Amino acid sequence: MKQFPTHFLWGGAIAANQVEGAYLTDGKGFSTSDVLPQGITGPVVERDPADETRYLKDIAIDFYHRYPEDIALFAEMGFKCLRTSIAWSRVFPHGDEKQPNEAGLAFYDQLFDEMAKYGIQPLITLSHYEMPWTLVKKYGGWGDRRLIAFFEHYARTVFNRYQSKVKLWLTFNEINMSLHEPLTGVGLSRNSTQSEIYQAIHHQLVASARAVKLCREIIPDAQIGNMLLGGLMYPLTCKPEDVLATLQKNQKWLFFGDVQSRGNYPGYMLRYFRENGIELTITEQDKHDLKNTVDFISFSYYMSGCMTADEAEYQKQQGNILHMVANPYLPSSEWGWQIDPLGLRTILNLLWDRYQKPLFIVENGLGAKDTPEADSSIRDDYRIQYLSDHLIQVREAIEDGVDIMGYTSWGPIDLVSASKGEISKRYGYIYVDQNEQGTGSLERRRKKSFYWYKRVIETNGSSLGE
Ligand code: BG6
Repeated sequence: MKQFPTHFLWGGAIAANQVEGAYLTDGKGFSTSDVLPQGITGPVVERDPADETRYLKDIAIDFYHRYPEDIALFAEMGFKCLRTSIAWSRVFPHGDEKQPNEAGLAFYDQLFDEMAKYGIQPLITLSHYEMPWTLVKKYGGWGDRRLIAFFEHYARTVFNRYQSKVKLWLTFNEINMSLHEPLTGVGLSRNSTQSEIYQAIHHQLVASARAVKLCREIIPDAQIGNMLLGGLMYPLTCKPEDVLATLQKNQKWLFFGDVQSRGNYPGYMLRYFRENGIELTITEQDKHDLKNTVDFISFSYYMSGCMTADEAEYQKQQGNILHMVANPYLPSSEWGWQIDPLGLRTILNLLWDRYQKPLFIVENGLGAKDTPEADSSIRDDYRIQYLSDHLIQVREAIEDGVDIMGYTSWGPIDLVSASKGEISKRYGYIYVDQNEQGTGSLERRRKKSFYWYKRVIETNGSSLGE
């Protein structure tokens, strides 16, 4: 019988800026997320602490104050693991201070203690789509090499502080997203040149490697991974030109994993830099630092897409942030994300073959509108179907011999979406009474999927496909 490993880490994944709210509470500074109230694709809104305007993200689902109730609900589902992030700007409000903000550190102590009560393992992302806004305004974001030291100081601070509580870490969320959204990824303006973006990415890759080194020194029994946006592409046709264009498109995101897992720049990227006039400053020390490779590879997977070498066809069909051409064989979500469970088995095999390091699926899920019934229950069969179909493919990949540490579905509780800053795109097993104006009661309710996922965990996956 096909089975999940005994110690498989079942759980869910959230991110500080999408759940916590409390955007300036207890000394927190403004982050890049706070100045993008309409999400990572929206306009920048310069903010002043004295300004009374409030945005949905400022409140979000108020996890900052309500986390004990939420953790209890996760525990009721049987979570073994919860992925969340530390908001860098709670710990270092401007990013360049010497001394951390004690109130920010204390919040995460309490959060991790609460998780420990139920035996839920924290999996912590150091930077999930946010950084202190001052680092962008004053230094120009990751384009400035000094950010490596600021990040290192932050990483050292939290590794020291939580060394007995957190044994699973991730460096930068979806590190390859910088190629599409440089402001959120590396704190650069959207008009930046490719050279500027790749230089900033280089600094971030070095910072990630230095964090890996620090983590090993400070918490020898921890494991630290990277985090990729799994942007799996298929050739639109079997024309050799399409196949090659697809390989090169996939290399654009796999490159990050190659550096973080193998410790140097792959030849195909050096060629790309050469042929596109991209000259990076890479020091000998950088090359040495990059040798600190990750223990495991984590990634998000929501959809797949197609690639074509036909420029006219490509221009016509690109309509999303990842510039994926639509696959005629796949259905789409209400947000146009193409649903492809088999693609999850494919990407798991691809990453395993390439890196031979354990994999962790740290995001997967369906963003959908939920309409409560007259009795206020939420029958989200569409979500159950999506998740179940994907988990069956995870089980198939395990059968293929892929080493998978765990699965944390995205947004186990409804949260604010990253791309557009909306709450109507819901991912949760737990419904939150919140609206786009941020005036909801914030009451939490179990959806039908809550009971479904509880049973999946209880049976260690053997209930799937029943
Ligand atoms: C991933 C991010 O890109 O996708 C999450 O790591 C994000 O932060 C998730 O929320 C889903 O995207 P969205 O735009 O639906 O929130």
